[in-house]
Amino acid sequence: MKKQEDRNHQKGSSAWKSRKVAIVGAGAVGATFAYAMAQNGAADEICLIDLNNELCKGQVLDLSHGLPFYPTINIYAGSEKDYADADVIVITAGAAQKKGETRLDLLKKNSAIIEGIVDQITAQDSKATIVVVTNPVDILTKIALERSGWDRSRVIGSGTVLDSSRFKYLLSEFFNVYVGSIHAYILGEHGDSEFAAWSMANISGVQLDEYSKQLGIDNWPEKKKEIELEVRDSAYHIIDYKGATNFGVGLALVQIVGAILKNQRRVLTVSYHLEGEYGISDICLATPCLISQNGVASIIGTELTKEEQEKLVNSANILKREYSELKR
Ligand code: NAD
Ligand code: LAC
Repeated sequence: MKKQEDRNHQKGSSAWKSRKVAIVGAGAVGATFAYAMAQNGAADEICLIDLNNELCKGQVLDLSHGLPFYPTINIYAGSEKDYADADVIVITAGAAQKKGETRLDLLKKNSAIIEGIVDQITAQDSKATIVVVTNPVDILTKIALERSGWDRSRVIGSGTVLDSSRFKYLLSEFFNVYVGSIHAYILGEHGDSEFAAWSMANISGVQLDEYSKQLGIDNWPEKKKEIELEVRDSAYHIIDYKGATNFGVGLALVQIVGAILKNQRRVLTVSYHLEGEYGISDICLATPCLISQNGVASIIGTELTKEEQEKLVNSANILKREYSELKR
Protein backbone atom coordinates (compact mmCIF):
# COMPACT_ATOMS: atom_id res chain seq x y z
CA MET A 1 0.00 0.00 0.00
CA LYS A 2 1.04 3.59 -0.54
CA LYS A 3 2.02 5.59 2.50
CA GLN A 4 -0.49 8.13 3.69
CA GLU A 5 1.65 11.16 2.71
CA ASP A 6 1.40 10.01 -0.94
CA ARG A 7 -2.33 9.52 -0.61
CA ASN A 8 -2.75 12.96 1.00
CA HIS A 9 -0.86 14.43 -1.93
CA GLN A 10 -3.12 12.62 -4.34
CA LYS A 11 -6.12 14.05 -2.56
CA GLY A 12 -4.57 17.53 -2.63
CA SER A 13 -5.50 17.98 1.04
CA SER A 14 -2.36 19.03 2.89
CA ALA A 15 -4.40 20.35 5.88
CA TRP A 16 -5.86 16.97 6.66
CA LYS A 17 -3.87 14.91 9.17
CA SER A 18 -4.60 11.23 9.16
CA ARG A 19 -4.77 9.38 12.46
CA LYS A 20 -1.86 7.01 12.47
CA VAL A 21 -1.17 4.02 14.69
CA ALA A 22 2.24 2.33 14.57
CA ILE A 23 2.35 -1.20 15.94
CA VAL A 24 5.76 -2.56 16.91
CA GLY A 25 5.67 -6.35 16.88
CA ALA A 26 3.55 -8.03 14.22
CA GLY A 27 3.13 -11.31 16.08
CA ALA A 28 -0.05 -12.74 17.58
CA VAL A 29 -0.96 -9.65 19.62
CA GLY A 30 0.21 -6.99 17.14
CA ALA A 31 -1.54 -8.54 14.14
CA THR A 32 -4.77 -9.24 16.03
CA PHE A 33 -4.83 -5.68 17.33
CA ALA A 34 -4.23 -4.38 13.78
CA TYR A 35 -7.17 -6.45 12.53
CA ALA A 36 -9.49 -5.19 15.27
CA MET A 37 -8.28 -1.57 14.93
CA ALA A 38 -8.82 -1.64 11.17
CA GLN A 39 -12.43 -2.68 11.70
CA ASN A 40 -13.00 -0.07 14.38
CA GLY A 41 -12.39 2.86 12.04
CA ALA A 42 -10.80 5.29 14.54
CA ALA A 43 -7.43 5.07 12.76
CA ASP A 44 -6.80 6.09 9.14
CA GLU A 45 -3.38 4.44 8.92
CA ILE A 46 -1.98 1.35 10.56
CA CYS A 47 1.71 0.71 10.21
CA LEU A 48 3.25 -2.60 11.32
CA ILE A 49 6.93 -2.86 12.26
CA ASP A 50 8.74 -6.09 13.12
CA LEU A 51 12.34 -7.34 13.10
CA ASN A 52 11.00 -10.30 11.17
CA ASN A 53 10.42 -8.70 7.74
CA GLU A 54 8.85 -11.77 6.19
CA LEU A 55 6.31 -12.08 8.98
CA CYS A 56 5.54 -8.38 8.78
CA LYS A 57 5.05 -8.49 5.01
CA GLY A 58 2.80 -11.54 5.32
CA GLN A 59 0.63 -9.96 8.03
CA VAL A 60 0.27 -6.71 6.07
CA LEU A 61 -0.68 -8.51 2.86
CA ASP A 62 -3.21 -10.68 4.67
CA LEU A 63 -4.69 -7.68 6.54
CA SER A 64 -4.78 -5.63 3.34
CA HIS A 65 -6.96 -8.19 1.63
CA GLY A 66 -9.71 -7.01 3.98
CA LEU A 67 -9.43 -3.38 2.80
CA PRO A 68 -12.74 -3.31 0.93
CA PHE A 69 -14.43 -4.34 4.16
CA TYR A 70 -12.81 -1.99 6.72
CA PRO A 71 -13.46 1.71 7.27
CA THR A 72 -9.65 2.11 7.75
CA ILE A 73 -7.96 3.07 4.50
CA ASN A 74 -4.31 2.16 4.71
CA ILE A 75 -2.26 -0.68 6.24
CA TYR A 76 1.44 -1.02 5.47
CA ALA A 77 4.77 -2.38 6.70
CA GLY A 78 6.89 0.44 8.08
CA SER A 79 10.18 1.23 9.71
CA GLU A 80 11.39 3.33 12.63
CA LYS A 81 10.88 6.45 10.47
CA ASP A 82 7.16 5.89 10.92
CA TYR A 83 7.42 6.83 14.59
CA ALA A 84 7.91 10.47 13.54
CA ASP A 85 4.29 11.19 12.59
CA ALA A 86 2.45 8.43 14.47
CA ASP A 87 -0.27 9.52 16.89
CA VAL A 88 -0.05 6.33 18.93
CA ILE A 89 2.75 3.75 19.05
CA VAL A 90 1.69 0.39 20.45
CA ILE A 91 4.58 -1.84 21.54
CA THR A 92 3.83 -5.56 21.39
CA ALA A 93 7.37 -6.62 20.44
CA GLY A 94 9.25 -9.16 22.48
CA ALA A 95 9.03 -12.61 23.96
CA ALA A 96 5.70 -14.02 25.09
CA GLN A 97 5.08 -16.39 28.02
CA LYS A 98 5.59 -20.08 27.42
CA LYS A 99 3.72 -22.73 29.39
CA GLY A 100 4.62 -22.43 33.08
CA GLU A 101 6.28 -19.01 32.75
CA THR A 102 4.96 -15.98 34.61
CA ARG A 103 4.83 -12.51 33.09
CA LEU A 104 7.67 -11.44 35.39
CA ASP A 105 9.90 -14.23 33.97
CA LEU A 106 9.97 -12.26 30.72
CA LEU A 107 11.43 -9.13 32.27
CA LYS A 108 15.14 -9.62 31.45
CA LYS A 109 14.46 -10.68 27.86
CA ASN A 110 12.05 -7.88 27.11
CA SER A 111 13.50 -4.86 28.91
CA ALA A 112 16.42 -4.56 26.46
CA ILE A 113 13.99 -4.84 23.53
CA ILE A 114 11.77 -2.07 24.93
CA GLU A 115 14.74 0.23 25.60
CA GLY A 116 15.96 -0.23 22.01
CA ILE A 117 12.52 0.57 20.58
CA VAL A 118 12.05 3.63 22.81
CA ASP A 119 15.47 4.94 21.69
CA GLN A 120 14.33 4.65 18.08
CA ILE A 121 11.07 6.45 18.89
CA THR A 122 12.75 9.39 20.64
CA ALA A 123 15.36 9.65 17.86
CA GLN A 124 12.47 10.41 15.48
CA ASP A 125 11.29 13.29 17.70
CA SER A 126 7.91 11.57 17.84
CA LYS A 127 4.93 13.34 19.44
CA ALA A 128 3.02 10.10 19.83
CA THR A 129 1.56 8.49 22.92
CA ILE A 130 3.27 5.17 23.64
CA VAL A 131 1.14 2.23 24.77
CA VAL A 132 3.25 -0.64 26.09
CA VAL A 133 1.70 -4.11 25.87
CA THR A 134 4.75 -6.39 26.08
CA ASN A 135 5.01 -8.23 29.41
CA PRO A 136 5.64 -7.67 32.21
CA VAL A 137 3.72 -4.63 31.09
CA ASP A 138 3.85 -2.53 34.28
CA ILE A 139 7.63 -2.67 34.70
CA LEU A 140 8.24 -2.25 30.99
CA THR A 141 6.00 0.84 31.00
CA LYS A 142 8.19 2.31 33.73
CA ILE A 143 11.32 1.43 31.75
CA ALA A 144 9.84 3.03 28.60
CA LEU A 145 8.84 6.14 30.55
CA GLU A 146 12.31 6.59 32.06
CA ARG A 147 14.11 5.85 28.82
CA SER A 148 11.97 8.32 26.87
CA GLY A 149 12.20 11.19 29.35
CA TRP A 150 8.64 12.07 28.26
CA ASP A 151 5.78 13.24 30.41
CA ARG A 152 4.11 10.33 32.20
CA SER A 153 0.77 11.05 30.49
CA ARG A 154 2.24 9.95 27.13
CA VAL A 155 3.84 6.66 28.17
CA ILE A 156 1.25 4.24 29.45
CA GLY A 157 0.71 0.48 29.58
CA SER A 158 -2.30 -1.63 28.68
CA GLY A 159 -2.53 -2.43 32.41
CA THR A 160 -5.60 -4.38 33.48
CA VAL A 161 -7.97 -3.24 30.73
CA LEU A 162 -7.98 -6.86 29.53
CA ASP A 163 -8.34 -8.27 33.06
CA SER A 164 -11.22 -5.88 33.82
CA SER A 165 -12.94 -7.12 30.69
CA ARG A 166 -12.38 -10.75 31.75
CA PHE A 167 -13.87 -9.83 35.13
CA LYS A 168 -16.96 -8.27 33.55
CA TYR A 169 -17.41 -11.30 31.31
CA LEU A 170 -17.33 -13.70 34.29
CA LEU A 171 -19.71 -11.52 36.33
CA SER A 172 -22.02 -11.33 33.34
CA GLU A 173 -22.06 -15.13 33.07
CA PHE A 174 -22.63 -15.56 36.80
CA PHE A 175 -25.45 -13.01 37.17
CA ASN A 176 -26.87 -13.51 33.67
CA VAL A 177 -26.78 -9.76 33.04
CA TYR A 178 -25.60 -8.10 29.82
CA VAL A 179 -21.87 -7.46 30.14
CA GLY A 180 -22.24 -3.78 29.16
CA SER A 181 -24.43 -3.20 32.23
CA ILE A 182 -21.71 -4.38 34.59
CA HIS A 183 -19.18 -1.89 35.96
CA ALA A 184 -16.18 -3.56 37.51
CA TYR A 185 -12.41 -3.18 37.64
CA ILE A 186 -9.32 -5.25 38.26
CA LEU A 187 -6.53 -3.07 39.66
CA GLY A 188 -2.80 -3.27 40.41
CA GLU A 189 -0.26 -5.38 38.52
CA HIS A 190 -1.26 -7.00 35.24
CA GLY A 191 -0.19 -10.30 36.74
CA ASP A 192 -0.36 -12.52 39.76
CA SER A 193 -0.89 -9.79 42.41
CA GLU A 194 -3.79 -8.12 40.61
CA PHE A 195 -7.07 -7.91 42.53
CA ALA A 196 -10.77 -7.24 42.06
CA ALA A 197 -11.94 -3.88 43.39
CA TRP A 198 -15.22 -5.31 44.67
CA SER A 199 -16.16 -2.03 46.37
CA MET A 200 -16.45 -0.40 42.93
CA ALA A 201 -18.27 -3.26 41.19
CA ASN A 202 -21.95 -2.69 40.53
CA ILE A 203 -24.87 -3.51 38.29
CA SER A 204 -26.97 -0.43 37.67
CA GLY A 205 -25.53 1.20 40.78
CA VAL A 206 -26.32 -1.80 42.99
CA GLN A 207 -23.24 -3.23 44.76
CA LEU A 208 -22.72 -6.91 44.00
CA ASP A 209 -22.99 -8.01 47.65
CA GLU A 210 -26.43 -6.38 47.73
CA TYR A 211 -27.45 -7.73 44.31
CA SER A 212 -26.50 -11.30 45.24
CA LYS A 213 -28.54 -10.87 48.46
CA GLN A 214 -31.52 -9.72 46.38
CA LEU A 215 -31.14 -12.86 44.25
CA GLY A 216 -30.77 -15.09 47.34
CA ILE A 217 -27.29 -16.36 46.37
CA ASP A 218 -25.97 -17.66 49.69
CA ASN A 219 -22.56 -18.94 48.47
CA TRP A 220 -21.62 -15.49 47.05
CA PRO A 221 -18.47 -15.10 49.25
CA GLU A 222 -17.02 -18.34 47.78
CA LYS A 223 -18.12 -17.38 44.27
CA LYS A 224 -16.34 -14.04 44.62
CA LYS A 225 -13.08 -15.82 45.38
CA GLU A 226 -13.56 -18.22 42.45
CA ILE A 227 -14.30 -15.41 39.98
CA GLU A 228 -11.29 -13.36 41.12
CA LEU A 229 -8.98 -16.39 40.78
CA GLU A 230 -10.42 -17.24 37.38
CA VAL A 231 -9.67 -13.71 36.15
CA ARG A 232 -6.12 -13.84 37.51
CA ASP A 233 -5.40 -17.25 35.95
CA SER A 234 -7.23 -16.73 32.64
CA ALA A 235 -4.07 -16.11 30.64
CA TYR A 236 -2.40 -19.25 32.04
CA HIS A 237 -5.40 -21.33 30.96
CA ILE A 238 -5.47 -19.85 27.46
CA ILE A 239 -1.70 -20.27 27.07
CA ASP A 240 -2.06 -23.92 28.15
CA TYR A 241 -4.84 -24.44 25.59
CA LYS A 242 -3.52 -22.53 22.57
CA GLY A 243 -0.08 -21.12 23.33
CA ALA A 244 -0.88 -17.38 23.43
CA THR A 245 -3.63 -14.87 24.12
CA ASN A 246 -4.56 -12.48 21.34
CA PHE A 247 -8.26 -11.76 20.74
CA GLY A 248 -9.21 -10.24 24.09
CA VAL A 249 -6.08 -8.12 24.28
CA GLY A 250 -6.53 -6.99 20.66
CA LEU A 251 -9.94 -5.56 21.51
CA ALA A 252 -8.77 -4.09 24.83
CA LEU A 253 -6.09 -2.20 22.88
CA VAL A 254 -8.69 -0.87 20.46
CA GLN A 255 -10.50 0.67 23.45
CA ILE A 256 -7.30 2.35 24.71
CA VAL A 257 -6.04 3.55 21.34
CA GLY A 258 -9.54 4.53 20.19
CA ALA A 259 -9.97 6.64 23.35
CA ILE A 260 -6.74 8.50 22.50
CA LEU A 261 -7.49 9.00 18.80
CA LYS A 262 -11.06 10.14 19.47
CA ASN A 263 -10.20 12.20 22.59
CA GLN A 264 -12.90 10.18 24.29
CA ARG A 265 -12.15 10.98 27.96
CA ARG A 266 -12.94 7.39 28.71
CA VAL A 267 -12.11 5.68 32.01
CA LEU A 268 -9.86 2.66 31.55
CA THR A 269 -7.54 0.81 33.94
CA VAL A 270 -4.29 1.49 32.09
CA SER A 271 -0.88 1.19 33.71
CA TYR A 272 0.30 4.63 34.73
CA HIS A 273 3.24 6.01 36.69
CA LEU A 274 1.99 6.89 40.17
CA GLU A 275 3.56 9.91 41.78
CA GLY A 276 1.90 10.00 45.19
CA GLU A 277 -1.60 8.97 44.12
CA TYR A 278 -3.01 6.26 46.42
CA GLY A 279 0.06 6.90 48.60
CA ILE A 280 2.23 5.12 45.97
CA SER A 281 5.18 6.53 44.00
CA ASP A 282 7.78 5.52 41.42
CA ILE A 283 6.04 2.56 39.81
CA CYS A 284 3.51 1.98 37.04
CA LEU A 285 0.38 -0.01 37.78
CA ALA A 286 -3.29 -0.03 36.89
CA THR A 287 -5.87 2.27 38.44
CA PRO A 288 -8.86 3.92 36.72
CA CYS A 289 -7.52 6.71 34.47
CA LEU A 290 -9.23 9.21 32.20
CA ILE A 291 -7.90 8.73 28.65
CA SER A 292 -7.91 11.63 26.20
CA GLN A 293 -6.01 12.69 23.08
CA ASN A 294 -2.77 13.13 25.03
CA GLY A 295 -2.85 9.81 26.84
CA VAL A 296 -3.79 9.96 30.51
CA ALA A 297 -5.56 13.25 31.27
CA SER A 298 -5.95 12.40 34.96
CA ILE A 299 -6.26 9.63 37.51
CA ILE A 300 -9.71 9.08 38.93
CA GLY A 301 -9.15 9.21 42.70
CA THR A 302 -11.15 6.14 43.57
CA GLU A 303 -11.97 5.47 47.21
CA LEU A 304 -10.71 1.97 47.96
CA THR A 305 -11.45 -0.08 51.07
CA LYS A 306 -8.58 -0.67 53.51
CA GLU A 307 -8.14 -4.21 52.16
CA GLU A 308 -8.09 -3.05 48.53
CA GLN A 309 -5.62 -0.28 49.35
CA GLU A 310 -3.34 -2.91 50.96
CA LYS A 311 -3.60 -5.06 47.85
CA LEU A 312 -2.67 -2.11 45.64
CA VAL A 313 0.36 -1.38 47.82
CA ASN A 314 1.27 -5.09 47.70
CA SER A 315 1.22 -4.99 43.86
CA ALA A 316 3.35 -1.84 43.92
CA ASN A 317 5.89 -3.46 46.26
CA ILE A 318 6.16 -6.60 44.12
CA LEU A 319 6.71 -4.54 40.98
CA LYS A 320 9.23 -2.26 42.69
CA ARG A 321 11.22 -5.27 43.93
CA GLU A 322 11.37 -6.80 40.45
CA TYR A 323 12.31 -3.46 38.95
CA SER A 324 15.13 -2.85 41.42
CA GLU A 325 16.47 -6.40 40.97
CA LEU A 326 16.61 -5.80 37.22
CA LYS A 327 18.47 -2.52 37.71
CA ARG A 328 20.99 -4.04 40.16
P1 NAD B 1 4.82 -13.05 19.30
O1 NAD B 1 6.07 -13.83 19.55
O2 NAD B 1 3.74 -13.65 18.50
O3 NAD B 1 5.18 -11.64 18.64
C1 NAD B 1 6.21 -10.84 19.11
C2 NAD B 1 6.85 -10.20 17.89
O4 NAD B 1 7.81 -9.22 18.33
C3 NAD B 1 7.61 -11.18 16.99
O5 NAD B 1 7.04 -11.15 15.69
C4 NAD B 1 9.05 -10.64 16.98
O6 NAD B 1 9.70 -10.78 15.73
C5 NAD B 1 8.81 -9.18 17.34
N1 NAD B 1 10.00 -8.50 17.86
C6 NAD B 1 10.87 -8.91 18.80
N2 NAD B 1 11.80 -7.96 19.02
C7 NAD B 1 11.48 -6.90 18.24
C8 NAD B 1 12.04 -5.62 18.04
N3 NAD B 1 13.11 -5.21 18.71
N4 NAD B 1 11.44 -4.78 17.14
C9 NAD B 1 10.35 -5.18 16.45
N5 NAD B 1 9.78 -6.40 16.61
C10 NAD B 1 10.33 -7.24 17.48
O7 NAD B 1 4.28 -12.65 20.76
P2 NAD B 1 2.79 -12.18 21.11
O8 NAD B 1 1.99 -13.35 21.49
O9 NAD B 1 2.33 -11.25 20.06
O10 NAD B 1 3.06 -11.38 22.48
C11 NAD B 1 3.80 -10.17 22.46
C12 NAD B 1 3.94 -9.63 23.88
O11 NAD B 1 2.66 -9.19 24.35
C13 NAD B 1 4.41 -10.66 24.90
O12 NAD B 1 5.34 -10.05 25.79
C14 NAD B 1 3.15 -11.04 25.65
O13 NAD B 1 3.40 -11.53 26.95
C15 NAD B 1 2.44 -9.70 25.66
N6 NAD B 1 1.01 -9.74 25.94
C16 NAD B 1 0.54 -8.77 26.74
C17 NAD B 1 -0.80 -8.71 27.03
C18 NAD B 1 -1.32 -7.63 27.93
O14 NAD B 1 -2.52 -7.59 28.29
N7 NAD B 1 -0.46 -6.72 28.35
C19 NAD B 1 -1.69 -9.68 26.51
C20 NAD B 1 -1.17 -10.65 25.66
C21 NAD B 1 0.19 -10.68 25.38
C1 LAC C 1 -2.74 -11.94 29.09
C2 LAC C 1 -1.29 -11.77 28.77
C3 LAC C 1 -0.57 -13.06 28.62
O1 LAC C 1 -3.48 -12.44 28.22
O2 LAC C 1 -0.66 -10.92 29.64
O3 LAC C 1 -3.15 -11.62 30.20
